[in-house]
Amino acid sequence: TIPERVFSGVQPTGNLHLGNYLGAIKKFVALQDSHDCVYCVVDLHAITVWQDPAELQRNIREVTAAFIASGIDPEKHIVFNQSQVAEHAELAWIFNCVARMGWLNRMTQFKEKAGKDREKASVGLFAYPTLMASDILTYRATHVPVGEDQKQHLELTRDIAQKFNNDYSARIADLGIGVPMQVGDENVNGYFPLTEPIIGGPAARVMSLRDGTKKMSKSDPSDLSRIVMTDDADAIAKKFRKAKTDPDALPSEVEGLEGRPEADNLVGLYAALCEATKADVLSEYGGQEFSRFKPALADLAVAKIGPIADEMNRLQGDPAEIDVILAKGADRARAIASKTLADVKEIVGF
Ligand code: ADP
Ligand code: NA
Repeated sequence: TIPERVFSGVQPTGNLHLGNYLGAIKKFVALQDSHDCVYCVVDLHAITVWQDPAELQRNIREVTAAFIASGIDPEKHIVFNQSQVAEHAELAWIFNCVARMGWLNRMTQFKEKAGKDREKASVGLFAYPTLMASDILTYRATHVPVGEDQKQHLELTRDIAQKFNNDYSARIADLGIGVPMQVGDENVNGYFPLTEPIIGGPAARVMSLRDGTKKMSKSDPSDLSRIVMTDDADAIAKKFRKAKTDPDALPSEVEGLEGRPEADNLVGLYAALCEATKADVLSEYGGQEFSRFKPALADLAVAKIGPIADEMNRLQGDPAEIDVILAKGADRARAIASKTLADVKEIVGF
C-alpha cells in the first residue's frame, strides 16, 4: 500500500482570512502529530489571475509566516513554495493530457472566478484543477485537509489518478512499481492513491460576514466581509459588530439555525475557534441577543488569532529567515517529487 501522507496548499493572494485559518491551516496543524505532512504556498495557482510581482513576493512570505505562526513545524514537516519545485508544473502537463475537457468544464470554481466574460479568463484558471491534482499526487498524498469549496477539485484529483492508473495499469505492473487496487470491479496496478479529502467541522465553509450566502473570500470587495488574520482587536470587534444578522435571539438547539445562515455562520465560527460544537455554543448562548454574542465572539477571535498575528508580524520582519525555511523545504519536497516524476516518465514511456 501507499503510505499515508498529507498534502495541502494555500494561495499567496493576500487577505488571508479566518476561513482560510479555520477551514484549512488549523487542520494542517492538527494533522502533524499523526501524519507526514507537506504544506505548500501555491504561487503557481495565484498567477491564474493577475498578481503584482512585488505584492506576490510579499504574500508568499506572509502565507509561510502564517503556517509557522499557526504552529506548523518546518523541521518535522515540509513547508515550501510551489514554483521552487518544477515537478509540479511538469506533472500538471501530463495530467492535462489525462484529464478530459468535459471534466474541467464542470468545475464550478472556474465558472465563479471567470465570471461572465469567460473568453477573457486565463487558460491557467481553466486548467487550475489539473495543477492541483499534480500538487497532491506529486507526493502521492493520501489525505488533503481543505475547506468545502475544494471538494469538487478533490473529486477531479481522484478521477485523474484513477484514469492514469487504469490507462497505464499494464505498464505499471511490468515496471513493478504499482500497488494492486480495486477500481469498480476491475483490479488494476495503480501508481497514484485515490486521495481522500479531510473536510468538516463547524468551519468547513465560513461565510461572508456581510452576506450569509457567499463564502468568506480574499477577493470580496468589502473589507467588512472578512476577518483578516492580521486585523487588530478593534478591527475584529468592529467587523463582528457590523456583521449581518437577523433580529431574533440565538436558538437553544442547532435545528433552530436552519434558514438563518448568518446566525449559523457566527455560531460555527465560535465553535471552531474554541474547538467545540455548535450545540455546545448554543447551550451557552441560546436565548441571547446578538448584541451580547457578537462581543463574546470578537473577544474569542482576538484571543485565538491575536497571538498568531503577532508571530506572523515578527517572522515577516526577517524575510531572509523565511526564505531559508522555504529553500530547505523545497529541497526536501524535490527529493520526493523527483522520484515520482522519474517513475511517471517511465510509466508514460518517455
Ligand atoms: P481562497 O479560497 O480564500 O482564495 P485558497 O484557495 O488559497 O484561498 O484556499 C486555501 C484554503 O482555505 C483551502 O483549503 C480552502 O478550501 C480554504 N478556504 C478558503 N475559503 C474558505 C472559507 N470561506 N471557509 C472555509 N475554508 C476556506
Ligand atoms: Na479556494
